[in-house]
Amino acid sequence: MSDALLARLSSHVASHMGLHFPLTKWPALEKAFNSAAGELGFDNPEECANWFITTPITQELVESMAGYLTIGETYFLRENRSFEIFTAEIIPEIIRKRCGDKQRLRIWSAGCATGEEPYSMAILLDKMNNALKEWNIFILATDINPKALRKATDGIYTEWSFRNTPSWLKENYFRKSADGRLQLISQIKKMVDFSYLNLVEDFYPSLPSGTNAMDVIFCRNVLMYFTPEFARKVVECFYRSLVDEGWLIVSPCEASQVLFSQFKAVSFQDAVLYRKEGNGERGKGTKAESGNRRIGERGKSRIGETVKLRNGETEQKEAVSPIPPFSDSPLQSVPLCRTLANQGKLAEALMLLEQVIAADKLNPGLHYLQAMILQEQGADSEAKAALKRVLYLDQKFVLAHVALATLALRQGIRKDFQRYLENAFSLLGGYQADEILPESEGMTAGRLMKIIGAMDVMGDRDES
Ligand SMILES: C[S@@+](CC[C@H](N)C(=O)[O-])C[C@H]1O[C@@H](n2cnc3c(N)ncnc32)[C@H](O)[C@@H]1O
Repeated sequence: MSDALLARLSSHVASHMGLHFPLTKWPALEKAFNSAAGELGFDNPEECANWFITTPITQELVESMAGYLTIGETYFLRENRSFEIFTAEIIPEIIRKRCGDKQRLRIWSAGCATGEEPYSMAILLDKMNNALKEWNIFILATDINPKALRKATDGIYTEWSFRNTPSWLKENYFRKSADGRLQLISQIKKMVDFSYLNLVEDFYPSLPSGTNAMDVIFCRNVLMYFTPEFARKVVECFYRSLVDEGWLIVSPCEASQVLFSQFKAVSFQDAVLYRKEGNGERGKGTKAESGNRRIGERGKSRIGETVKLRNGETEQKEAVSPIPPFSDSPLQSVPLCRTLANQGKLAEALMLLEQVIAADKLNPGLHYLQAMILQEQGADSEAKAALKRVLYLDQKFVLAHVALATLALRQGIRKDFQRYLENAFSLLGGYQADEILPESEGMTAGRLMKIIGAMDVMGDRDES
């Protein structure tokens, strides 16, 4: 390709996709268009490049090209030093600090490619089984590439995914299939929730996408693709997605004083990790204070109540500090509920929300928010009941159908999964692609269509 064409391509890709291809990376850009041209039926890469530059940009186009322009290169326990620090320092500290408190752990692999990274975390946490026995663990894994996500949900790998990986991992956690490939055991597969998310385009943190109140975010070998401007935006969103004292783990080659200036850089031997400096208050409003204060009358009903968790066990609801009575309209407290939930203060958020619901029982949006928070607590059956209430009040509440489909997928109830997904598809037909969906925290109908499209494929694979 001529330099002039590469220069045009590079600026087009930067402004429309946020991907960074400076002069030194032009060979990679050319290579990407070589592969795309072959697969998309063009005679040569120039023709493909010209088509790309002159075709009106759609989300579809951006996402299909992202598959060529980014590399899904990954393997189990890649850049193992971060995983060592994760298991030797970060998780033990969280366990210590939350001992006797709400035992939840939320981790996000952002740019998970074919799943080796989030499954590595799941395996390492499984090895710490004793210390984490009673914990509600949520591992979210997202990527822009639906093909990669499909492979991730399959959980079937070749030897190439284990280059540089210690043999115990393969021996203890995989079964060899007839064709010689390695199938991840279902106990670990079940620990990871895969989902489609474009880090540059999508809105996060948000409750519906589960990208809030994270303890640890792994985003390794991803930021390097973005222009400095987009990388800054993504890092800023990560900052908001983390709880106070939460960790951002990037690749050693991505460490930068400037990009992560909001964070505290913490040096370990051979690694620098980034920490959101908190006020140390997280969780203190729960157990620590409850001994000194009277529990607010209106919140009394839930305290000490037993909820059923995702793993089938039950747990006592934590005691929470009283929420001051709202002054004017109860609905004014809804943003505070969201903020509390985003900070991981789920019990407080729920208590306040219950007061709001009591004053406005027929508002489906409130029941939906309640379902999102309950789901985050791991109380799946309570969340399901809340979602059913949403549909009773508003059969057309598209996000409730999607959430029920997600729960059904997790519980392996295929019939319900398909039914709710089909409902969501048909309801979305009534929206314009750029219309923001109610209670979605900024998600458009077009974007949700894309997300449930990826879910549909994952559901197909899950059955196999
Ligand atoms: C090199 S892989 C990294 C895999 C894994 N994190 C690791 O370090 O082994 C980069 C991944 O980032 C994903 N990616 C690139 N741009 C993205 C975006 N805008 N949103 C979400 N994922 C993106 C790619 O699809 C690819 O799967």
